[in-house]
Amino acid sequence: MISTASAANADLVHSLGADQVIDYRTEDFSVALRDVDVVLDTVGGETLSKSYQVLKPGGFLISIVMPPDQEQAKAHDITATFFGHRSHAARLDLISGLCDAGKLRVIVDRTLHLSDMQDGLTHSASGRACGKILLRPAQ
Ligand SMILES: NC(=O)c1ccc[n+]([C@@H]2O[C@H](COP(=O)([O-])OP(=O)(O)OC[C@H]3O[C@@H](n4cnc5c(N)ncnc54)[C@H](OP(=O)(O)O)[C@@H]3O)[C@@H](O)[C@H]2O)c1
Repeated sequence: MISTASAANADLVHSLGADQVIDYRTEDFSVALRDVDVVLDTVGGETLSKSYQVLKPGGFLISIVMPPDQEQAKAHDITATFFGHRSHAARLDLISGLCDAGKLRVIVDRTLHLSDMQDGLTHSASGRACGKILLRPAQ
């Protein structure tokens, strides 16, 4: 598995299972990589635009940020789709079960009181959060 991250987060990303980490600030993954089986895009924009060319014919591109361009997908002979998660109780139970069983590791950036939600939203929008931002309800 190959992932992009800034150098400061390379060790963390390795610890989560990446075999190779590309520092997106100093290296262009779309130049470094070819014939990849699957791309999971969590950035969108230019990163998504550059993702088609790293895939092998028959590969899969999944973006959780924006719908991929179907013309580009056709031109590169790949399947490209947008994936949007909808939370519901059964799915959240499944995820919390995986956490409890130690099969899913959740990285927490920070925990805030509900009254500080605006700070959390601002931090999230900065694109610099490293993991989940948790909100604790008022006691
Ligand atoms: N479709 C869905 O169901 C769904 C669900 C959840 C999230 N999303 C979307 O997915 C996106 C990512 O969400 P997120 O929770 O991971 O939060 P995020 O706060 O947007 O992601 C932050 C991380 O992305 C890294 N990053 C920033 N710019 C990058 C770039 N150009 N290339 C590679 N990495 C980059 C940062 O690493 P460094 O700090 O190391 O630079 C940081 O660790 C958001 O747009 C969110 O809205 C969609």
